[in-house]
Amino acid sequence: MIEIAEVLAINGGPKAVTEPAPPNLLHGTNEIGEEEIRAVTNVLRSKVLFRYAADPSKSTVAQLEALFAAKTGARYVLGVNSGTSALIAGLIALKVSQGDEVLIPAYTYIATASAVMAVGALPVLVEMDESLSMDPQDMERKITDRTTAVIPVHMRGIPCDMGRIMEIARRRKIAVLEDCAQTNGGTFGGRALGTFGDAGIFSLQHYKIAASGEGGLVITNDRDTYERAAVYHDSAYAFWMEERAQDPAAAEQWKNMCFLGENFRMSELHGAVALEQLKKRDRILARTRMIKRHLWPACEGIPGAVMEGLNDRAGDCGISLVFFMPDAASAVNIAAILAAEGVRCGTVFSKQFPDRHIFYHWDYVMNKRSAHRNGAPWSLEKNPPRVSYTKDMCPRTIALLERAVMLPITQIMTDPYVDQVVGAIQKVARSWKG
Ligand SMILES: Cc1ncc(COP(=O)(O)O)c(C=O)c1O
Repeated sequence: MIEIAEVLAINGGPKAVTEPAPPNLLHGTNEIGEEEIRAVTNVLRSKVLFRYAADPSKSTVAQLEALFAAKTGARYVLGVNSGTSALIAGLIALKVSQGDEVLIPAYTYIATASAVMAVGALPVLVEMDESLSMDPQDMERKITDRTTAVIPVHMRGIPCDMGRIMEIARRRKIAVLEDCAQTNGGTFGGRALGTFGDAGIFSLQHYKIAASGEGGLVITNDRDTYERAAVYHDSAYAFWMEERAQDPAAAEQWKNMCFLGENFRMSELHGAVALEQLKKRDRILARTRMIKRHLWPACEGIPGAVMEGLNDRAGDCGISLVFFMPDAASAVNIAAILAAEGVRCGTVFSKQFPDRHIFYHWDYVMNKRSAHRNGAPWSLEKNPPRVSYTKDMCPRTIALLERAVMLPITQIMTDPYVDQVVGAIQKVARSWKG
């Protein structure tokens, strides 16, 4: 039998993927349908857009909070207007104060850093490991006498090692705020992400697993933490609570416990969309996880590729797949070869492309730029100042990200498309010599 050599598409051969690619890489947004339209229409018909004007048993925001509590097992859930607001309210709830140091991973959306700065604290960067999330060993190394909290971020649907992070945080007596903006529905050891820390936050923004355009959630098992977040999320929280109090003593209690707040409230319209989206979340994740299981062995078969480190395979949301090549050049090379075959993928770090998920490109953090005349939060640092930023400060994160090839996964990828992607990866693997 004569063997016909396979010609890679990059060299003029036939493209392995001919099925139509998904038009976008979104999750919740792709599922918007009659349910969301009906829910929003109902709110509009009711002419009650403000959650504290709604009957608590009918409020969409209250129903969303109740469903999220049931799904995560968290005792308290607070709907807010964004993931960033949720981070800020969460930090305030955990009593993070001006001049404190807060540990965050070097690989996270810039909002994690800006939320820390918004409460007057200083972000201290921690290296990531092969799981794309905070390296627990480096986290412990970065704790100082000024560290009051850590924000582990479950990036790209992949859970952090919450066992080790919680052990270190408890031993070193620092608060934990889990950033689950990209991991709605993820678990670690069978338990919902967001319930390990003293509080957890979620985002419901356009690009997220469940999406209401804008929106966020704070979850916690601690009543005091919940109440502090709730007070901060609404500058008039005491008034609504006084109005709803069953007796004068309870009303008085609210008056006394309130402090200043912002306006981070979620509207009934956003609550309506988010509630319907949450009902669809697990179906989305069942499919993304299944697709990832299909793609995994094909990627594993690429000579020299090392798969992402999964701290909990079953708890991973399956919205991305990452493998590491031996060096940056081979990552760029194989990503180009795969892309020519029709596989949607790319390398993660490049000096040229300003990806806001990588500390290297966080200009206003790197340059300590302030919104305030007094230079806060940088001017609020205790003496002697110790926090500084340089582009080479987290070399392991950069070294890993420049060797990383990422395949984003969405539930709308069809079976024939996924099969062809698997075939394309296998074709490239057969010819890859490094
Ligand atoms: C890891 C992470 N944290 C926080 C946020 C902020 O969420 P939002 O855009 O809803 O404010 C995002 C959103 O992109 C995120 O990915």
